[in-house]
Amino acid sequence: MYNFFLISHSWLRWVVLIMAVYAIYKNYEGFTSGRKWLVSDKKVNTFFIASLHLQLLLGLILYFGVSPTVQTFMADVKGSMKVAELRFFGMEHFVGTVLGIVIAQVGSIRAKKQISDAGKFRTAFFWFLIATLVILIMIPFGIWNADRPMFRF
Ligand code: HEM
Repeated sequence: MYNFFLISHSWLRWVVLIMAVYAIYKNYEGFTSGRKWLVSDKKVNTFFIASLHLQLLLGLILYFGVSPTVQTFMADVKGSMKVAELRFFGMEHFVGTVLGIVIAQVGSIRAKKQISDAGKFRTAFFWFLIATLVILIMIPFGIWNADRPMFRF
């Protein structure tokens, strides 16, 4: 059970990142070219947000259900704060990625409320860019935080 959720969460990271890059690119291209906001643009943003929601769901299952790393963290929160990997998954990864997801969600809602097409593109572009940077910093790539495999089997 743990392996299933960990592997799914690990691979979905790539889907999230690909969707993020594509959504950022499409919104940038939209407001620099001055073109109309199409149904397909709405879909791109929606798919990006949907991938984040799914990742959030898998993360919550890992966090509150099956992750032995988080269980070790919860058993002694004070002591775990001194252990970098436990602190990362018990606190930093959780708080940071949720913040990133909230930023993307707010951006998507604000973009929809804009009256002009350029405003929709520009709003989605900026909020998605910031959200993606926050999420990137919080992915355990082993550069500035925990080291986990790029591709888990
Ligand atoms: C876009 C958001 C997120 C991304 C891209 C992401 C990415 C990752 C990655 C790449 C791993 C390492 C998987 C591996 O070891 O192969 C991981 C682990 C984990 N993530 Fe996330 N995550 C996100 C959001 C969340 C959220 C919101 C939570 C909690 C609610 C969460 C909880 C966890 C937990 C508990 C682990 C596993 C710790 C362990 O058992 O060792 N993640 N995440």
